Amino acid sequence: MATQTTPAHQDAPSSGRRDFLYIAAGAVGAVGVAGAVWPLINQLNPDASVLALASIEFNLVGIEEGQSVTIKWRGLPVFVRHRTQKEIDEAKAVALSDLKDPETDEQRTKSGHEQWLIMIANCTHLGCIPVGESGEYNGWFCPCHGSVYDTAGRIRKGPAPKNLVLPPYDFVSDTLVQIG
Ligand code: FES
Repeated sequence: MATQTTPAHQDAPSSGRRDFLYIAAGAVGAVGVAGAVWPLINQLNPDASVLALASIEFNLVGIEEGQSVTIKWRGLPVFVRHRTQKEIDEAKAVALSDLKDPETDEQRTKSGHEQWLIMIANCTHLGCIPVGESGEYNGWFCPCHGSVYDTAGRIRKGPAPKNLVLPPYDFVSDTLVQIG
């Protein structure tokens, strides 16, 4: 079962704000729904309850090109970025041989929705939250120890060993994503 959530954080590039301000609305909504369905799923089995809590639906309407939001999924921050064409072109132009953790841009996005990049927002070094639209590749920069990610969230420099992790997700429609 999926429950809809709202952005925990929204960042317009023009605002220059790159801090992370979490608003509890999305999380509270999820907990409320989870509480309501608990008596039912409690009669089923543990796997059903885990699945019910594991999925959220997120509406992409209102996230303009060049904007990012951070939502919460299973207690983890998740970046949802509406990429610009320039960011997509830059990501596609990179040779796999230049990558520490080789993945194509196509492997990191969904076909037909390549403008959307959805990733768990924890640096793969020690878990800090990287800053968006930053670093040498104008992707993400992790200030903790200097890892640099590109516009597909792929690690390019610094101590992080892997690309930013993609959660399991799918497009329910052009504007609705189910994560988990
Ligand atoms: Fe990001 Fe160390 S946690 S570079």
